[in-house]
Amino acid sequence: MLTILITGSKGQLGTEIQELSAHHQDIQFFFTDIEELDICSADAIRTYVHGKPIDYIINCAAYTNVDQAEKNEEKAREINAEAAKNLASIAIEKDITLIHISTDYVFSGENHTPYTEQEKAKPSGIYGKTKFEGEEFIRKICPKHIIIRTSWLYSPFGKNFLKTMLTLGKDKKELGVVVDQIGTPTYAYDLAACILAIINKTTKDFSEYGTYHYSNEGVCSWYDFATDIQIIAKNKCNIKSIESKDFQTLAKRPYYSVLNKSKIKHIFAIEIPHWKSRIEHCIRRIIE
Ligand SMILES: NC(=O)c1ccc[n+]([C@@H]2O[C@H](COP(=O)([O-])OP(=O)(O)OC[C@H]3O[C@@H](n4cnc5c(N)ncnc54)[C@H](OP(=O)(O)O)[C@@H]3O)[C@@H](O)[C@H]2O)c1
Repeated sequence: MLTILITGSKGQLGTEIQELSAHHQDIQFFFTDIEELDICSADAIRTYVHGKPIDYIINCAAYTNVDQAEKNEEKAREINAEAAKNLASIAIEKDITLIHISTDYVFSGENHTPYTEQEKAKPSGIYGKTKFEGEEFIRKICPKHIIIRTSWLYSPFGKNFLKTMLTLGKDKKELGVVVDQIGTPTYAYDLAACILAIINKTTKDFSEYGTYHYSNEGVCSWYDFATDIQIIAKNKCNIKSIESKDFQTLAKRPYYSVLNKSKIKHIFAIEIPHWKSRIEHCIRRIIE
């Protein structure tokens, strides 16, 4: 039986993997978050995996508060970079395949065409910088890795843009949302399904380890995303386009961070839903 350890399992992506695990009775999952397994401690990871026949680790744990990372660089580095190094060291020791999630914020956003995996990372904030450092540790230490960079994650769980827009849109008549940051939303449910499909395709004779990009299909601004959320939720709130210069945040965000997904689609033969087609599924789950 395949055995998978999930770290950071109470976050958005981790919770979606838990939801999907019910359909995978042939896999033994160990779901952990910081209370059960703090990935900042190499000793804790070593003790946890000892005696368990772990085949894969899916690292969903991260320091994801992009703005707070600007003020807490040390903490962000400890979780996003040093802890990734811990996992990579133990993965190589125990012959475990490490699946690690990273971000579109490793890119500067100066492109006008979707970023491929080969393009040079140039993060503009601490979050992106520490996530890239984590990637580099994994690439250096653990050859059996799959790093998946994703963008604009949302789900019915935790804190995310879709949930914020739903809540604000219920009460407010008008909301200003930035129109000059372009990317692609990713439904965490789809990413979770993609990861489990990847695992299924890597159990035998697999050699294409490395870095991959995954988001939903299509391209939009936060303004477009917010508008669709209000329409689908049947909120009366008017979304007004504003520019980033009029919406100051601690961390600078890339203006353009669309990810090119050709590689993941080709290597794993997966189909990716369009971002517009997934909002309703998520809202329905939130309402139910
Ligand atoms: N959210 C996005 O928009 C986005 C975009 C692109 C990429 N990503 C990447 O996608 C992945 C999943 O993101 P997500 O939104 O699901 O994250 P999330 O909701 O913030 O979940 C992360 C989980 O990790 C836990 N955690 C923090 N420190 C830990 C530690 N030392 N040991 C074990 N667990 C720890 C967190 O606990 P606490 O809540 O108690 O801290 C939380 O439960 C991350 O790698 C993230 O960088 C996210």
